[in-house]
Order: sequence, then C-alpha cells, then structure tokens
Amino acid sequence: MFLLNPLLLLSLLGHFSLLASSEAISTTTTATTHPAPASIPTSNPSHTSPWRHNRTRESSEIHYFLKLFGWLPSNTTLPDTDIPSAIRKIQKVLRKPQTGVYDDTIENAMAKPHCGTEPPYNETDADEATVVDASNRTLLAKRYTIWGPKWDHTSLTYRFINYASDLPPERQRAILATAFSTWTSLVPLTITPAPPSLAIPDIHIQFTSLGPSETAYAATSMLAYGLSLAAGLINITFNSDYNWSDDRLFNYTALHEIGHALGLSHSKVQNAVMWPFYDGTIRPMYSDDMGAVHQLYGWRTPRWSRIGADSGTRGVVEVSSPSGSRVELLDGLYQLRSNGQVLWYSAQGSWVSVDNNPVTVQIAGAGGNLYQRHADGSIYKYSGASTSWLWIGNSDSNIVDIIAAGDQIYQRRRDGWVARWSGSGRTWHTIEQPLSSRQIVVSEKKVLYNLQTNGDLVRSEWPYGNGWTIIDQNPAIDSIAVGGDDFYKLHMNGQIFWLDTAYSLWRLIDDAGAKVIFAEGEFLYCWHRDGGIWRYTGTPFVWEQLDGTSNSQYVIGDSKGAVWEMLQNGEILRLVS
Ligand SMILES: *[C@@H]1O[C@H](CO)[C@@H](O)[C@H](O)[C@H]1NC(C)=O
Ligand SMILES: *[C@@H]1O[C@H](CO)[C@@H](O)[C@H](O)[C@H]1NC(C)=O
Ligand SMILES: *[C@@H]1O[C@H](CO)[C@@H](O)[C@H](O)[C@H]1NC(C)=O
Ligand SMILES: *[C@@H]1O[C@H](CO)[C@@H](O)[C@H](O)[C@H]1NC(C)=O
Ligand SMILES: *[C@@H]1O[C@H](CO)[C@@H](O)[C@H](O)[C@H]1NC(C)=O
Ligand SMILES: *[C@@H]1O[C@H](CO)[C@@H](O)[C@H](O)[C@H]1NC(C)=O
Ligand SMILES: *[C@@H]1O[C@H](CO)[C@@H](O)[C@H](O)[C@H]1NC(C)=O
Repeated sequence: MFLLNPLLLLSLLGHFSLLASSEAISTTTTATTHPAPASIPTSNPSHTSPWRHNRTRESSEIHYFLKLFGWLPSNTTLPDTDIPSAIRKIQKVLRKPQTGVYDDTIENAMAKPHCGTEPPYNETDADEATVVDASNRTLLAKRYTIWGPKWDHTSLTYRFINYASDLPPERQRAILATAFSTWTSLVPLTITPAPPSLAIPDIHIQFTSLGPSETAYAATSMLAYGLSLAAGLINITFNSDYNWSDDRLFNYTALHEIGHALGLSHSKVQNAVMWPFYDGTIRPMYSDDMGAVHQLYGWRTPRWSRIGADSGTRGVVEVSSPSGSRVELLDGLYQLRSNGQVLWYSAQGSWVSVDNNPVTVQIAGAGGNLYQRHADGSIYKYSGASTSWLWIGNSDSNIVDIIAAGDQIYQRRRDGWVARWSGSGRTWHTIEQPLSSRQIVVSEKKVLYNLQTNGDLVRSEWPYGNGWTIIDQNPAIDSIAVGGDDFYKLHMNGQIFWLDTAYSLWRLIDDAGAKVIFAEGEFLYCWHRDGGIWRYTGTPFVWEQLDGTSNSQYVIGDSKGAVWEMLQNGEILRLVS
C-alpha cells in the first residue's frame, strides 16, 4: 500500500520565488577523474561567508524555507535551535561538508525558483542514489527519481477546472496539449481532453491562489493508494496569483508538472525538465527525463521509423541552428550519396535533391548553413535555393576535411593547418595550429579543439589570435566530440571522458567499450562495436540503450534531441519514441 498523507501534501504545496538568480548549485561527483594539465584555467575557489549581514532577516527566511520543504516540523517557531541540523541535512544531499552553517550553497539552493510539488531534495536519496562503475567503485548518481505509483491504463484524460485570466482559454488548452504530447510521444500512452460525459477525468488542471504572487508558482498533488494512480487524485495546480501570459514559464511549468502527474519525482540532473528549479530559459526534454519515463512506461513501438533506404547513401549530416535561436531555413537532415548527390529530408517526408555532382566527397552543416567539399579541395556553400551553391574556397589538394560549427566553416589541411572562411569571396584566415592535426571540433562558443596525431589535444579560443593551449597529452585518445560547449574524448579502450571545466578535471563517464561518440547540443551518444546505440543520461555511467541491432553503422542527433541512425545497408532510421 502506497499512501501519502494529504495533510502532508498540503503543507508541502510549494512556493516559487522569482529571483533572477540562476547560479548553478555545484554538486561534485566522485567519478573517477584525472587532473587536466595546468594549462586549463582553474576555477574560482568557492567561498563561504558565514551568516549574512542581517542575521534576523536571514534567519527567518531560512526558517520559512526549511519548514516549507519539510526539513523542520511545520509547527516550530523562531528561535529554532534545530536550524543547523536541518542545514546539515541539505548539505548532505548536496554532498557538501556538513557544517550546519548557512553559506553560499544553501543560499543558492534557497534562492532558486523551484517547483512546489515536493522537497527539492530527498535526504534518503542522498544515501541511496549511487551507481557502481565497471571497477565496482561507488559513484554519486545525480539522476531522475521515480515517485513509485504509475498509471495502470494507457488512455488517460484531463480536464480544465478553470483557466488563468491572463490569456485566452484556447491558448491554454494548446499549451497543455503540446506539453502532454511531448511526454506521450515517448511512451505508449495517450492523454486527451476528457469528454463531458466522463464524470471524473484522470488529471485535473486548475488555477488556484497559492499565495502572494512573488513566491507561489505551481504544484501537483501526488496522492496514490496502492501502486496505481487513480482518476481524480492527480491535480495540477497553477498559482492564479501569478501572471501566466509568459509562455516560456507556462510551457515549462506545464511540462514539469505533467512529469509529476505521470509519476516522476524531481531529478538531480540540472539539464532535466524534472530538475526542481526554473531559471527562465526554455528547456527541452532531456535524456534524463526520457530515461525516467521510459523506465515507467516503456517505449512506443516501433521505436524507429525508416526514412531512407538507398544502398548508395554514404552518410547523413544534420544542420542545427545554435540552441536558443530560431529554427533556420536550412535546418534539417541531409544525405550524401556515393554518386555525389546531396538530398534534403523535407518536412513532407521526402528526399529533395539540392545538388548532383559526382565530384562531391563531403557535406557539413551547422547554424542553418550547408557546405560541400569537392575531391579537388574546393568548397561550396548552399544558397538555400534549388541547386544553387556559392563557391567559397579554391581547390587545394591540401584540404582533407571541412567542419561546420555555429556560423563558421573551417578547413583542416594535410599540412596540419586549420583555416576558417572570412565570410566573403574565397578568402580564408589561417589559424595557427601545431602540426599534424587528426581531428578538430568546435564548440558553440567557437572554442576550437584540435587532436594531434601524437595524442596532444590543444584548444584555441575565438577569435584564435592567442595561439593554443595544451589540455591533454595522451596517445590513447581515439577521437573527440563537442556538444554545445561540453567537450568529450573517447579513448581507444572505450572509456569516455567529459571535460569538467569548472574543476579542470577529466571525468570518466563511461567504460563499456564505446567505439564512436557523437554529441550535439546537450546530447551525447555512443556506438558500440556490437551495433548498440546508447544515449547518455547526464549521470556518469548511466546510459540508455536506444538500439541493439547488430547492423547499425553510426548515430547522429540534433540539438533538440532528435536521433537518427544509419545502417550498414544504407537505411536511415529516425527514433520516434
Ligand atoms: C533585519 O531584518 C529584520 C526583519 O526583516 C528587521 O526588522 C531589522 O530592522 C533588520 N535589521 C537591519 C539592521 O537592517
Ligand atoms: C509539533 O508537533 C509535534 C507532532 O504533532 C509535537 O510532538 C511537537 O511537540 C510539536 N512541537 C511544538 C513546538 O509545538
Ligand atoms: C525520499 O525518497 C525515498 C526513496 O526514493 C522515499 O521512500 C521517501 O518517501 C522520499 N522522502 C520524501 C520526503 O519524499
Ligand atoms: C563487481 O561486483 C560484482 C558483484 O559483487 C562482481 O560480480 C564483479 O566481479 C565485480 N567486478 C569487479 C571488476 O571487481
Ligand atoms: C508554448 O507552447 C505553445 C503551444 O504549443 C507554442 O505555440 C509556443 O510557441 C510555446 N512557447 C514557447 C516560448 O516555447
Ligand atoms: C482535485 O481537484 C478536484 C476538482 O477541483 C477536487 O474535487 C479534488 O478534491 C482534488 N483532489 C486533490 C487530491 O487535491
Ligand atoms: C500579464 O502580463 C501581460 C503582459 O505583460 C499584461 O498585458 C497583462 O495585463 C498582465 N495581466 C495582469 C492581470 O497583470
């Protein structure tokens, strides 16, 4: 029997303060690390300031926060000698020294706007949420939490009890419908508005006053008897004291609260929709959320849909605009055939030829731009119209590779040099690099990483006037990848490391024999020699298997989480669950 006391629920109905602060809470993982060479800038040391200037005020705020989230019994009054012990509990969850002293970490935790459904941190989880790596070392798992009960039927209904006064009801219905379908696109569930004839819908949506507009936000009642969620017990309550006309907040809140309505608790992964804090940005569904909802309800079948089947397909590339920007005209999936033809996958689901030239040997794209390289080294940029391309780089047998990143296009040359297009004519600027480059990748902030044939890994900052710094020297490095501004390296033994720039450390995040890694935006994938394709959940050593087929060739994705795999026979599949 699973039972949450409704009275307890009421006392936990939460508050969302809208402070602008969006500082990250840094929780250090104990993942295996080895320090990066000293040339990586070291992070600012974190400072702790004991009590703030006005101890009386701070003290009452802390007291309020601790009571609100159940760290202190709700009937305690100030002065409260238990505050230090409550702070110690939070520090334990945050993996900080348990000093019991109010410091920056606690202040940040309190200042961040958060969901009021349940305590943002669960002390029990702090003890239990660990994972074990391949060498049986215990690591901190910052990952999703499953509440416990879940829906036992797959056709769910919801009903609005009332609406916010700030925007038209049809707009609110559209926002909720989109948020529901974002979740149901991942799992075999349908969630639709309840017909009037249905007495009790599964989920209620309501707008109720939860308190002063500065602090109250939204909450979902999480009440269950037994292991199944029952119709009428799950209410998503938005605070009517808040102005809901900002659809960034509305959309994100709806997505987050629906996660609760499906049985998810808060996640410890900061990129996740189920992370309890809102920092004002639009947050797409993250791998951690997907892993959570798949664990509860499985996958839609079939998981993959075939969108291409031509044995002449040589490769696919995806053109993604930088995160946060509007979708550019040319964003999408392109394929290159061995006969040089380039095709774009249209929104209507057909492949449209954008060029057909037997000398084309490579395509690359980013930031809404598409480029091609010819066998003679010349480079062309797609104009966006029919099959018209702009000649931007002279032929040169020295050029072996083109790399598109952000709004830039780079060429890598046999002599080890790297150059970038000036943006006009066929003028390229060379970027000073050490000799014998093996692979380059460029981050969203245009930081250029260059892997040398001897295993040296160097980095240059935009606009590359100040040379480069060595960040690793290791002949065991196989390849490198960058997603957004996160940098990864794959070792020949299959270990994957993430560069933690805050701590200047390489953090081991997988040790399971990966052969190829691919990153885009916040997403990281790996391909194993047995054909398995895995998606990183954001928690070291925790990956979700997307496919286990033996004939896959590689995997790519876009910055919003879409995934494609290419099979050895040229088939192109899109992940649809
Ligand atoms: C500190 O805060 C309390 C409560 O808000 C207030 O009454 C008091 O005047 C403040 N003291 C100072 C020195 O600002
Ligand atoms: C608070 O409530 C608990 C349980 O109801 C009770 O045992 C405790 O004495 C109360 N504390 C105060 C300070 O009233
Ligand atoms: C914390 O998590 C544990 C296990 O996940 C659960 O049993 C417990 O009820 C949670 N505590 C609260 C206060 O939600
Ligand atoms: C890790 O622990 C498991 C279970 O105790 C054991 O079967 C396995 O051999 C251990 N692996 C290593 C690398 O020690
Ligand atoms: C919020 O959702 C609505 C409905 O799907 C959509 O039209 C709108 O563009 C979204 N707003 C943002 C900021 O994403
Ligand atoms: C949910 O909302 C409905 C309709 O307002 C109400 O009858 C019911 O008591 C609420 N349930 C909970 C658990 O809050
Ligand atoms: C909510 O915000 C919108 C846009 O800023 C504004 O037009 C509207 O008057 C606000 N509504 C209320 C009730 O304050």
